[in-house]
Amino acid sequence: MTSTSLDVERIRKDFPVLSRELPGGRPLVYLDSGNSSQKPTSVVETMREHLAMHYSNVGRAMHVLGSESTEAYESARDKVAAFIGAPSRDEVVFTKNASEALNLVAYSFGNPACADPRFTLGPGDEIVISEMEHHSNIVPWQMLAQRTGATLKWFGVTDEGRLDLADGVVTERTKIVSVAHQSNVLGTVNPVADVVALARRAGALVLLDASQSVPHHPVDMAALDADFVAFTGHKMVGPSGIGVLWARGELLEAMPPFLGGGEMIEAVWMDRSTYAPAPHKFEAGTPPIVEAIGLGAAVDYLTGIGMAAVEAHERELTAYALDALREVPGLRLIGPDSLDLRGGTLAFTLEGIHPHDVGQILDDRFGIAVRVGHHCARPLHLRFGIPATTRASFYLYNTTGEVDALVRGLHHVQKVFA
Ligand code: ALA
Repeated sequence: MTSTSLDVERIRKDFPVLSRELPGGRPLVYLDSGNSSQKPTSVVETMREHLAMHYSNVGRAMHVLGSESTEAYESARDKVAAFIGAPSRDEVVFTKNASEALNLVAYSFGNPACADPRFTLGPGDEIVISEMEHHSNIVPWQMLAQRTGATLKWFGVTDEGRLDLADGVVTERTKIVSVAHQSNVLGTVNPVADVVALARRAGALVLLDASQSVPHHPVDMAALDADFVAFTGHKMVGPSGIGVLWARGELLEAMPPFLGGGEMIEAVWMDRSTYAPAPHKFEAGTPPIVEAIGLGAAVDYLTGIGMAAVEAHERELTAYALDALREVPGLRLIGPDSLDLRGGTLAFTLEGIHPHDVGQILDDRFGIAVRVGHHCARPLHLRFGIPATTRASFYLYNTTGEVDALVRGLHHVQKVFA
């Protein structure tokens, strides 16, 4: 049970998998939502109903099902736009995940098809990321640097797990600053206003990887004041296969298309094409129709609960977990030890025990699902001199009872290895 004002027991009933018994009669304790969240019945049913009764291609089929499907798909865009406070629905581009959204933006830089000077990039120009990024916000920028001869730089991370906004990283040669809103390992929520101010002073654009923040906090595009924001559906009670790029409308107009194909064009000749306006310019081919509609249902679900309530619940749970984990001997938290500017993602090591062993015993013996490894953030683990961590990540359906189960499980793991 938990003391939050959120009715967690009722919420848990919306997620059928949470009442599943694992082999051997163990109840499921799902603490891996930072990796991918579970789905409520309303999302599953919305997708099933669409597939069963309304399915057709979108934007091109001139019949009843075509218009029903198009309406449902475009209404999902409206829902996402409202959920993130986008000034315009046309600023919401559906992608297949956050990685695709990040690659789409990276591909616009140093691209001969884009004449806008903000996107020109070559030797001597700089791309700035941070050491706490997951691979999706590292590798596309490494590839861009290799393609163009630009220099890749990064903010370091302090011992406490905070972004180190040291002088000299962002310079007048910086064209893009791309950082996580919330770290998928440390839980750190980064000071977006400071990052934006640094970038603006240098005349650089700003991208926020919001994969770990949009599912857990109220967000508002105008307040964040970034140029691009990327996130994914599957971490916010929606399906996999759907992601979102939000970008300021005038930037989307200036950017070249990422993938070519049907529905992203205005007219095609044998030797050239003109393109549809954004967002369609970036949605080549048949899009993830049912997945987008599922994401719309996920947004409805989260809106019904209220993101402020989701955030408050996770904050209580994180406070409880920070206290409880402090009592586990030999446990080293990797990330901020206080509630200040952090989310409900707790990564740690247990002295002398490999995280893979921790994860396996928690799963086998207690049905506790955590993530172990480098969580697609290897450079961050190298920074802390460790190959891997165990990570518990919370969501609106988790309880303090599950935190207690984790702590009991960790004590058991220690007994096994004593
Ligand atoms: N899905 C990855 C995670 O677990 C990035 O954080």
